[in-house]
Amino acid sequence: MKRIAVLASGNGSNLEAILTAIERGEIQNARVTLVISDQEKAYALVRAEKHGIPRALFRKEDYPDRESYDRALLALLQANQIDLVVLAGFMRLLSPVMVEAFRNRMMNIHPSLLPAFPGRRGVADALAYGVKVTGCTVHFVDEGMDSGPIILQEALAIREDDTVESLTERIHRLEHRLYPKAIDLWVRGKIRFEGRRCYIEQAETGAPERLG
Ligand code: GRF
Repeated sequence: MKRIAVLASGNGSNLEAILTAIERGEIQNARVTLVISDQEKAYALVRAEKHGIPRALFRKEDYPDRESYDRALLALLQANQIDLVVLAGFMRLLSPVMVEAFRNRMMNIHPSLLPAFPGRRGVADALAYGVKVTGCTVHFVDEGMDSGPIILQEALAIREDDTVESLTERIHRLEHRLYPKAIDLWVRGKIRFEGRRCYIEQAETGAPERLG
C-alpha cells in the first residue's frame, strides 16, 4: 500500500478528484494519508477533514527561511512514511532538499502544455498569447519551476469566446481525469525513466511506449 501526501494551497478540486478515484478503485493499493497546506483557509483542508484524512498546516511565517520550512516538511513526510508527494495547487517552490528526497516521487499538475506557459498564470498567459491549443501537464518535480520530466499531457482547443474563467474550468475537468491516471501509473510501477523522458511500460509486450 503506497502512502500519498497531497499538498494544496487552495480549493483542492484535484485533491477531491484523487480521493474519488481511490474510492472508486481507479487507483488501487494507495491511500492519501496526509494533506498539507500552507494556507489556513484552504478549502483543501476542509475536504481532507470531510474524508477523515489527517491534515497539517505549514505557514511560511512560522519559519525563518525556505530551507527550514522544507526541512520541517520533509521530516513530517518521512515520519509519515510517505511514498509519493502530490502537489495539487501548492503555490510554493520547493527547495533542493525536498526535491532530492522525493526525486521521481513528487508530481505536480500544471494548467498548460509545458514547457509553454510555466508559472502561476499558465491559463491567462496562454490565452493572452493567442495559442489555439492548450491543456494540462502532469510532471515530476525537479529543481526548476514546472520543468521536471513530463508524465502525461492532454490538449484542448481554445475557443474564440474563451475567458480565463471558462478556459480554467475546462482545463480543470481535464486535470481531474489526468492526475488520477498519472498517480495510478506511478503506483503500479508503470513509469520508466530515460534521461528526462518518461515512458509507460506496456503490460502486454513489456515494450516501452512513448507517451503522447
Ligand atoms: C490547478 O489548475 C493546477 O493546475 C494548478 O493549481 C490549480 C489547483 O486547483 N497547479 P485545485 O485547488 O485543485 O482546484
